[in-house]
Amino acid sequence: MFKENFVVAIDGPAGAGKSTIAKLVARKLVFAYIDTGAMYRSVTWKFLRTKAEFNENFIGELANKIRIDFRTEENKVFVDGTDVTEAIRTTAVTNLVSRISAINTVRIAMVAEQRRMGESGRVVLDGRDIGTVVFPNADVKIFLTATVEERALRRYKEMTEKGMAVSLKQLQEAILNRDKQDSEREISPLRQAKDAVFLDTSNMCIDETTDFIINLVRGKEHDLRRS
Ligand code: C5P
Repeated sequence: MFKENFVVAIDGPAGAGKSTIAKLVARKLVFAYIDTGAMYRSVTWKFLRTKAEFNENFIGELANKIRIDFRTEENKVFVDGTDVTEAIRTTAVTNLVSRISAINTVRIAMVAEQRRMGESGRVVLDGRDIGTVVFPNADVKIFLTATVEERALRRYKEMTEKGMAVSLKQLQEAILNRDKQDSEREISPLRQAKDAVFLDTSNMCIDETTDFIINLVRGKEHDLRRS
């Protein structure tokens, strides 16, 4: 018998490939997948649409009222009924999201929702604080990273393949800037949980990384069944 609740937490810096890997791991294991970064991006998108001045109380209220809907089969994210899958990946959102995610009330609302979604099943979550704060008792924890050069290069290839004009140097700067804000914030900063497996994927391909995590999950399930 499989354990009914099984949480896989994948944390790490920007552009480490967390969502690509988490999605594949979830698909192969038939787990649900929750992209927690998409939730902070959704709040940011919603705030940008208001065109209001940056105000923590106001943004906190937006976060409390937002309805984020992951339609996994379609690979889409909806906010209050609007498809925001593409809109939450724009540079405007990416450049602001770390400021939004540092707001305490925003984090309280998002973490509550992540726990609610994750508590009731077999799930993979990726983010910055999953193994440290959201699910400190997660069954498997991974800290996924790669050198900043490699992360920027991957993003560069992804964007140029879509026909977008981007500068590698600017991408690297944006990644470093986001990592700095995410690691230095007061509440739930990005850091590796003590019991997380550190995985540097600079020289690993997607399949190798995915298989490595799947083997960890299977090993853990095997141990749990024996105990
Ligand atoms: O993972 P992604 O790059 O989409 O995350 C966007 C931003 O959301 C991060 O830079 C970070 O500021 C925030 N985030 C967070 N906690 C999480 C997931 C994302 O603060 N669990």
